[in-house]
Amino acid sequence: MQIAIGSDHAGYSLKEILKVHLKDLGHETSDLGTFSEESVDYPIYAEKVGIAVSSGSADFGVLVCGTGIGVSIAANKVKGVRAGVVHDTTSARLAREHNNANIVCFGARLVGVEVAKDALESFLSSNFLGGRHERRIEEITEMERNG
Ligand code: RB5
Repeated sequence: MQIAIGSDHAGYSLKEILKVHLKDLGHETSDLGTFSEESVDYPIYAEKVGIAVSSGSADFGVLVCGTGIGVSIAANKVKGVRAGVVHDTTSARLAREHNNANIVCFGARLVGVEVAKDALESFLSSNFLGGRHERRIEEITEMERNG
């Protein structure tokens, strides 16, 4: 799959690790920055990854900041984005199965590297269950339309 990945300075180190992990799993990655630990503003990178996913140039997105919260809030402002913060394999799986999340967000200051790698694998290997969850996703899409 084609995966867009981005972070701020706090997430830079984990982003680099997850990027290698994605390549090891056989995915194509497009790294949209940041490219060092110099302080930057996370909305810039959340928007870049959000646009890559909403435009269809990426199948999924990965975002990392200190907590995962800032990048998720910002990415969710891009139409068509469903970004969720995950902390383990279970929340990662449920983000796909129930919420049809298309961007997974990590808090580099909160989650260990191995947990993040496993959670990322769980996210990418899980599928939306549809059914009663479909209606709820449609309600969210309707909220977007109503702006
Ligand atoms: C940066 O210090 C930090 O605020 C940012 O990475 C993120 O955690 C915001 O939600």
